[in-house]
Amino acid sequence: MQATGDLAPVVTITSTPSMPNSPNIPPAMFGAGGPMLKRFDESTLASRINSGASSPPPSVKGIGKKVAKPDYSEQKIVVAMVGLPARGKSYLSNKLMIYLRWLEYDVKVFNVGQLRRTKARQKAQKLGVKEVHMADFFSHSNAQATQSRDSLAEESLETLIQWLKEGGNVGIHDATNSTRSRRAKIEARLAKEKGMILIFLESLCDDPATIAANVELKVSQGDPDYKDMSPDAARTDFLRRIKEYEKVYETITEPHLSYLRITNVGEEVSMSRINGYLSSRIAFYLMNLHIRPRNIFFSRHGESKYNVEGKIGGDSLLSPRGMQYAKALPALITDNIGEKPLTVWTSTLKRTIQTAQYLPYTKLTWKSLDELDAGVCDAMTYEEIEQAYPDDYANRDEDKFNYRYRGGESYRDVVVRLEPVIMELERQENILIIGHQAILRCLYAYFHHLPQADLPYIKIPLHTVIKLTPKAYGCDEERYTLPINAVDTHRPKPKTVKPPGTQSSTQRRYFVEDEEDMKAGVVA
Ligand code: F6P
Repeated sequence: MQATGDLAPVVTITSTPSMPNSPNIPPAMFGAGGPMLKRFDESTLASRINSGASSPPPSVKGIGKKVAKPDYSEQKIVVAMVGLPARGKSYLSNKLMIYLRWLEYDVKVFNVGQLRRTKARQKAQKLGVKEVHMADFFSHSNAQATQSRDSLAEESLETLIQWLKEGGNVGIHDATNSTRSRRAKIEARLAKEKGMILIFLESLCDDPATIAANVELKVSQGDPDYKDMSPDAARTDFLRRIKEYEKVYETITEPHLSYLRITNVGEEVSMSRINGYLSSRIAFYLMNLHIRPRNIFFSRHGESKYNVEGKIGGDSLLSPRGMQYAKALPALITDNIGEKPLTVWTSTLKRTIQTAQYLPYTKLTWKSLDELDAGVCDAMTYEEIEQAYPDDYANRDEDKFNYRYRGGESYRDVVVRLEPVIMELERQENILIIGHQAILRCLYAYFHHLPQADLPYIKIPLHTVIKLTPKAYGCDEERYTLPINAVDTHRPKPKTVKPPGTQSSTQRRYFVEDEEDMKAGVVA
């Protein structure tokens, strides 16, 4: 439960609302823009030319390992949201869930609104009683409804606790939890559980434009509360609901609580009593989020000499067609981005640096963006690997995400090393990453929230720019393929397994309240 030690000071961090690419942005402690980052340096290119790729030592034989998921079973955190309606609580819950799941924690959002609707539907079906959940239902002066809402919040918390006991790591209680008494109840309940940490996450927002956008999202994206109403009637009711909550809202001032308060999605962050690795990671991630409009572009390097020869890994230069792509890329990007600032990130490998060379933007290199290390298989073709290491080859086909090349990496390893890149990407605005097939698959899977098993098969073709536009719930995507031929380096998934999805929707998802959800009151 809560640490009861010394008084912990509240730490407040205010971010500069200007463009992160401008000189006003506070330097990151690590990653792009930070002191540990090397500026693009032509001399590194020269020193790598003719470095040659390692060839597999003939003595190495054997089976590549499938590496199991790390054991996170001891991690038990309840993140209890706090905030008025339309303050982005569900947005933050969803982002946090996606980030932590990408890092392989078991995370679930327990949405009290969904439980309320499910229960109401059950009542209607079983007893023929139709409950009305218009603004009056959310009024504090409506004693019966207040009691009913309190007990729904408690039931949802019970389900969450049970789920944590059964192996979950982070349960997010997505409710308003907007009074001191409600928070005290949550605290008292969690005090009975050993080893569970409680963090309140308050989302404050006084920016009329953000609130208005959130209200519109609610009334226009099929919120089940308003499914039979016109947008105007839904808007009027929702604004009244917000007013009802405002009458009783109490921001967190309880000095003993562990909490994080986010104002206007990242403009200012206060935190108190946040201790421990996972809690700190959660806080750090949330601190870096922003919702300013921006684009993230992904491109693989131009076709390389190794691509043409069918070899993996290495540090080869671009083929003539790859060079053509490098020359054509600036026009495509500048047409798209116009006058807006953009930063280009490359790996430290020659083929990405060469691809970026004509782009008229600031360029930064990241070691973390280097291609998946194929270990002893580096510089071999897939056919050579199959011949030399047939067991490895079969193992990789069987479970590509978990397979770690002998002396090299697995996709799981790559996800772990890309975590600072994700953190920095969340903080930045317009970024173009010139990367590699495996690396871009991992980043793409994060932004589209794609499952691990599908991740290593995502199609990221050569000579194609993928433009992502982050939205409240997901990313919009456009792909631009330049008319310059290139080899296809995608090896399809073995037939028995279903092909991966490559695109997701930016619609806010109102999860289908199916049988299982009905029982659990859970948004997964
Ligand atoms: O073939 C190009 C390449 O970037 C290799 O360097 C790398 O090993 C490979 O793609 C990763 O793709 P896969 O995981 O499908 O083998």
